[in-house]
Amino acid sequence: MKNAATHKSGPETLAPGLPSGSRLPAHIAIIMDGNGRWAEKRLMPRSFGHKQGAEAVRRTVEAAVEIGLPYLTLFAFSSENWKRPVDEVNDLMWLLRSYLRKEMAALHRQGVRIQFIGARHSLAADLVGLIEEAETLTAQNQRLVFTIAVSYGGQDDIVEAARSLARRVAAGELDPDTIDSDLFAAALSTRGIPDPDLVIRTSGEQRLSNFMLWQSAYSELVFVDTLWPDFARQDLERAITVFAGRDRRFGGTGAV
Ligand code: IPE
Ligand code: IPE
Ligand code: MG
Repeated sequence: MKNAATHKSGPETLAPGLPSGSRLPAHIAIIMDGNGRWAEKRLMPRSFGHKQGAEAVRRTVEAAVEIGLPYLTLFAFSSENWKRPVDEVNDLMWLLRSYLRKEMAALHRQGVRIQFIGARHSLAADLVGLIEEAETLTAQNQRLVFTIAVSYGGQDDIVEAARSLARRVAAGELDPDTIDSDLFAAALSTRGIPDPDLVIRTSGEQRLSNFMLWQSAYSELVFVDTLWPDFARQDLERAITVFAGRDRRFGGTGAV
């Protein structure tokens, strides 16, 4: 499997809070879940949970930069989240606008490259404008590649890739027999980003909910009970420590 066994690991970490010498994953992807329950526990509207969730995003990106993680992906809004009440969807979209407006410049100064995956055509034109502004502003940055998945579905990602390859075949540009997993991966929205080594899901749910179905083929999965608005640097470090203790075999025997 491309990327799984071959791509480089993250740097050796000396970050405080992590066992010294433990290998960092190169790419951590997080399914940020539990905003609604966090708010409901406090007898507050779900929108309050989302607002606090945006704070947890800010903290997590800051921690990722400090730890020296090369790739971070956050699942912010799924292709299925459009089923939610229109007010909630609007709240989430406004939070995304406000996050980008507030954080874009600071992230740029820290050397963070921001990019988005997901069905951009389903988003409002002004939001797409902000997304493009953030991507263009930070395009040359190399410290952390921060990918935000919005209106993203793993099945859509695969279908889109199949469609684009089929178009090239129909145009006579591509021989179907040359399609292999590397070529297929290069047609996905995540081209250029290594597969996630570690996928974390918060809030105690243990499912992928249509997140990076192809890319997570060999990801280590860590499920934590913390609700997303409470997620802090220690939770990230704990998940990295769990990851460091896992035996990744990629179908082999594990013998070096
Ligand atoms: C995660 O929290 C945010 C999104 C999925 C957009 P939820 O809103 O799913 O929170 P719960 O699962 O209802 O607690
Ligand atoms: C998954 O959370 C999507 C995101 C975190 C953006 P959901 O809350 O939508 O997932 P389900 O509905 O519980 O599977
Ligand atoms: Mg949820």
